[in-house]
Amino acid sequence: MTNPQQGRWSAVGRLLQPHRIKIIGLALVSALGALAEAMFLVTVTHIALEFASSSGSGNTTINAVGIHLSTRSALAVGGGLIAFRLAAALIGVAVATGITAAVITDLRQQLSHSYLKTAWSVQQKEPAGQLQQLLVTYTQEAVNSVTAVTSALVAGLSLVALLGVAVTVSPAASLMVLLVLVALGGVLHPLRRAVNRFSSKAVDQELNFAHEIADLSNVSLEIEAFGVRNRVINHLGGLIRDIKPVLRRVDALVQMNTPLYVSLAYVVVLVGMVFVTTLEIGDVSAISAVMLVTLRSLSYGQQFQLSATTVAEGAPVLHSIDDTITRYRESPHPVGGTPIEAIGPIKVADLCFSYNPNSPTLEHLSFEINPGEIIGIIGPSGCGKTTLVHLLLGLREPSSGTIEVGGHPLATIDRRSWAKLVGFVPQDTSLISGTIEENVRFFRDIDEELVARAVKAAHLEDEIAAMPEGLATRLGGRDSQLSGGQRQRLAIARALVTEPRLLVLDEPTASLDSGAELFIRGTLAELGREVTVVVVAHRLSTLEECDRILVLDNGRLATFGRPEELAEDNSFYQSALKHSQLS
Ligand SMILES: Nc1ncnc2c1ncn2[C@@H]1O[C@H](COP(=O)(O)OP(=O)(O)OP(=O)(O)O)[C@@H](O)[C@H]1O
Ligand SMILES: [Mg+2]
Repeated sequence: MTNPQQGRWSAVGRLLQPHRIKIIGLALVSALGALAEAMFLVTVTHIALEFASSSGSGNTTINAVGIHLSTRSALAVGGGLIAFRLAAALIGVAVATGITAAVITDLRQQLSHSYLKTAWSVQQKEPAGQLQQLLVTYTQEAVNSVTAVTSALVAGLSLVALLGVAVTVSPAASLMVLLVLVALGGVLHPLRRAVNRFSSKAVDQELNFAHEIADLSNVSLEIEAFGVRNRVINHLGGLIRDIKPVLRRVDALVQMNTPLYVSLAYVVVLVGMVFVTTLEIGDVSAISAVMLVTLRSLSYGQQFQLSATTVAEGAPVLHSIDDTITRYRESPHPVGGTPIEAIGPIKVADLCFSYNPNSPTLEHLSFEINPGEIIGIIGPSGCGKTTLVHLLLGLREPSSGTIEVGGHPLATIDRRSWAKLVGFVPQDTSLISGTIEENVRFFRDIDEELVARAVKAAHLEDEIAAMPEGLATRLGGRDSQLSGGQRQRLAIARALVTEPRLLVLDEPTASLDSGAELFIRGTLAELGREVTVVVVAHRLSTLEECDRILVLDNGRLATFGRPEELAEDNSFYQSALKHSQLS
């Protein structure tokens, strides 16, 4: 839940911090442009009034801001001031858009880097769609806030410059204008607070909405197969309707800002005119000039108000981005540690793990795996096989107990050297958008020969050769062009391509045909090295390949031994075979 009470300007201030030089430049350009505009307005008022009083002779002198000029010179000065103002405004636009583009780029970099550098256990907990929502929608909101701040800056400085010029013409009238602007700001303050409060609610609802959409887009196959399109349409409709009131309220409050401001400003102008005409104070040209400057000031004031409201609207989004980046950074992915060059014996001692404190998932596991062994892990669904595999890979931290590899605690081993030695085939395989070759390489520098070897070892060679574009065939998205078994073998090629010394397979229940099933022994022979294999086995044929089998039951180690021994001696193993639906 986003906290609406956090400073409205603080989050956007932090975003702008690295760009302060550019912001000072923008302020300078804006102030100069506004000064030129104010001088232009004063000059034009004087020209018009002098022109009217001298019946258009054109030879009168103009006394604008204390300088005496002929009408022609005054007109030329006016033209020059306008040209200067335009140039300043264009430079201002270039600087402001430069700042905005830099902010969105910085923010996206920070978000994606912090996400990719956070521990996998944190990434794994993030709801579907969270990162997309943050990177796409929220960064756009951040841009709106930054644009609002730069335009508030331009408006604020323009106001100051205009009032500065007005003071030289009529100090009393200018003071009144200033008081009016401050009062208008005060009157509209509660409106901005309300915008901030409702916008904070909208942020939370929109995030939930994004998660639901992401989940639904992943199950389009099931939606079609179960014939529940209408139900899903209704469900989505409900979600969309739930967000509507709060979105509408935020929008209404934002939209109310301008008419309220303008109406109040006009009332003030009217009151000012009544005041001036009743009291008959000041000379006409000074009052007219101040009036013109006041009107312009009011429009800058309006821009300032609107910007402040936009910042109030965007603040909860920025705080949500800030909180997310902080949360990611608080649990960094481990770096450094002891580099290793070989996978020694794996020693697990009194290992416990739980996802939540009240229900342990793995309890007091102790066992050893020797280099070169093929270990099968079996047990009923939900007994903790995948969890154990993740712990052995160092993806999760044990709640207690230790895992040592070659005498080094797993947590202290350098992740890079570890990743080079380990190949992993997860239970659910995902493809990335790219070619088959890129999917096998998976962001690692691997030469073509190794890719070809891995594809061959995973029994994918013939099928890929039959595709018109071979390894360059593009995959990704829903339309992957691969069967479930082919995807699985591609995942195996991805794991084998680095020629790992520890191969961990969280075997799928189906997908591999009988030819591909036998890949483990054959592949190891092809690799010609000592490879330790840990395989979560769902098939009897896989178990036959194993040197030893670890039987898990409800998070506990039931037994660990050679398959023939277990088949003969262990009644639990035999019943586990039945209960694990091994076929
Ligand atoms: N990310 C998670 N957060 C919370 N609980 C989880 C998480 N992942 C798994 N669990 C729970 O931990 C237990 C063990 O899950 P695990 O995935 O390790 O089982 P498994 O033996 O691999 O099952 P299967 O054979 O069905 O793949 C289950 O009760 C599961 O609900
Ligand atoms: Mg599993």
